[in-house]
This record gives sequence, structure tokens and C-alpha cells, in this order.
Amino acid sequence: MSTMTLPRHIKLVEVGPRDGLQNEANPVPLAVKVELIDRLSAAGFANVEAAAFVSPKWVPQMADSAQVMAAIRRHPGTTYSALVPNLKGLEAALGAGADEVVVFSAASEAFARRNINCSIAESIARFEPVAQAAKAAGVRLRGSISCALGCPYQGEVPPAAVVEVVQRMAALGCDEIDIADTIGVGTPGRVQAVFEATSRAFPIERQSGHFHDTYGQALANIFAALQTGVSIFHASVAGLGGCPYAKGATGNVATEDVLYMLQGLGLHTGVDLRAVIEAGDFISRSIGRPNNSRAGRALLTTWQSTASKVGSTQAQAAA
Ligand code: HMG
Ligand code: MG
Repeated sequence: MSTMTLPRHIKLVEVGPRDGLQNEANPVPLAVKVELIDRLSAAGFANVEAAAFVSPKWVPQMADSAQVMAAIRRHPGTTYSALVPNLKGLEAALGAGADEVVVFSAASEAFARRNINCSIAESIARFEPVAQAAKAAGVRLRGSISCALGCPYQGEVPPAAVVEVVQRMAALGCDEIDIADTIGVGTPGRVQAVFEATSRAFPIERQSGHFHDTYGQALANIFAALQTGVSIFHASVAGLGGCPYAKGATGNVATEDVLYMLQGLGLHTGVDLRAVIEAGDFISRSIGRPNNSRAGRALLTTWQSTASKVGSTQAQAAA
């Protein structure tokens, strides 16, 4: 297939600091979160999902979101996003200087109930004042739709159910809408069917693909989505994360792997792969987790062996 038909410029949204770290059982020190976000900003991401102003009883790891937002070094070209489930969250996000707030619901009733403790319709009603206040404050509004390709409680989710939530989020005034495969069950044909359906309800240029990699389908799904015109993708450095309300779900697709693929396709992201790989190495070591990026691990090994060869050549020359 020719890559001429693919969108040339891709916006990568780095969600590791939020979607990745929210799932860590052990507290991640504030300084580590801040260094991770600063490294990602410096790597050139136009958008970093940095915080979640949600109930600390539901997601304890995000309880220090205000401190994180206060301590990061703001990069002029970077939009810092924060999840907000209600007006209380919005007020906190605005107070912390979030550039974009994210309301989140699901295409499956069962998941909405487990994740935000209400029905889809109730969530949208709750988001109405949130959306109005976000607009009044001049921040961007993004809507995220979980379980768009399958639900851990309900199983099959028809594309029509996703379209319905897209329409509701469009009516709220969302600038961007995320189609999320929370449990990574989607396959490329299904991904295309969903985006073909949702593109009839909301501009495809303002929809994103948010793929968890539980079944190893995420890169293929991104390539499939690219072919339908999607140009915004979410990814998590070092493949951090999972979802506290979707047992067994792994992290988002690793950012390094996505970047490696997009660079190979000749598509432009504005993000420095080496800097992301170094950020992935930093966070994996800091929280004592294996690095889940295949490209990250491969390139780190290559660089280390090159460095040791250069080192031994220099030592020989000096001897
Ligand atoms: P609730 O228990 O039904 O609500 O939770 P409540 O209004 O009765 O509040 C309960 C307590 O939480 C109260 O405290 C509130 O003050 C407090 P108490 O009086 O008991 O001491 N509270 C808050 N505290 C801080 N910030 C807030 C806030 N709101 C209430 N904003 C609620 C309802 C929506 C709040 C709760 O269910 C919640 O916070 N859920 C968030 C779940 C979450 O963050 N999930 C992970 C993110 S979504 C995700 O990862 C999916 C995504 O990646 C896409 C994909 O992959 O699918 C985006
Ligand atoms: Mg997610």
C-alpha cells in the first residue's frame, strides 16, 4: 500500500504520566513524575496528559496532581491535559493551570458504572456544566470514550453505541474525541469499521485512537486507523500502565514503538525518538518495572553496545 494516502502530520498524545502511572500500586514520588513530564515536554510532544483530578479514593496514585502541575516546567509548545470527572475536578484542573480538560465516559453501560459510578446518560448530564465552565475558562475540551472496541463486562460493543456517545460528546462542544480500546481487544478491520462509523458523526481530523496493547494489536490498529484518516494517537512511554477498572488490561501501546513505526512510514510527529527512549529508560528504572517498549529495549541495547565498543577502542588507543 502506498503511504501517500496517510495523514502526513501526526499528533502524538503522551499519556504515560496519567494513564500509565495511575495504575501503579506503589506511590510514585512526585519528583519522578515531574522529571518524567519534563523529559517528555523536552522530547517535543505537543500534548502530554499529565494529571487526573479524580477522587483519590478511586485512583490514589493521581492524588498529587495539583503538585505535579505546579512543579513541571511548562514547555511553550506543549498542551498539558488533565482528566476531570465532574465540576470539582474541573475547578481543581483550572486552578492547576491545565490547558485541556478531558471528560470521560464509555460506549458500554457496565464499564461507565464501574469507572465513574454512573450511567452513560448521567455522565453526559454531569459533563454539561463541566463543558460550559471549561469553554468559559478558554481551555480545550476533550472527550474520551472507553470500551469502544469491546468491554470487559459486556463483551461486544456495536459501532452504533460508539457513534451515539460521539454525538453526545460533540454536542457538549468537545474539540477532540478519543476512541479508546481500553482492554486492547480490537483488531484492524474492526478499528476501521468503528472509525468509518464515527467519522460520519464528527470530523475524523479531531478524533484520536487510544489503544491499549493487551492483545498485541495496537500497532496494527494504529496503521489501520491511519488508513481511515486518523492523525491523532495516544501512547504511553515504555508502555506504562493498565486500567484500574479493567482487570488484566495492559498499558497503552508504547510510544517508542509507535514513533519508530511512524518514522519508518515517513510521517512527521515533531518528537525526538532518542529523547523518548531515554525517558522510557528513566521511568522504568525509577519505578522498578521492565521497559515494555520493544523498540526502546532494542535501541538501548544497540546504543550500549556501540558505546562499549567505542569505549574499548578509545582504551586501546590510549594504551
Ligand atoms: P462517587 O463516589 O460516585 O462520587 O465517585 P461522590 O460525588 O459521591 O464522591 C465521593 C468522594 O470523592 C467524595 O469525598 C468527593 O468529595 C470525592 P468524601 O466526601 O467521601 O470524602 N470527589 C473528588 N475528589 C477529588 N476530585 C474529584 C472528586 N469528585 C468527587 N474530582 C467519581 C464518582 C466520578 C468522582 C469517581 O468515580 C471517580 O473519581 N472516578 C474516576 C475513575 C478514574 O479516574 N478512572 C481512570 C481514568 S479513565 C481511564 O483510564 C480510561 C481512559 O484511559 C480511556 C481508556 O483507555 O478507556 C481515559
Ligand atoms: Mg486508557
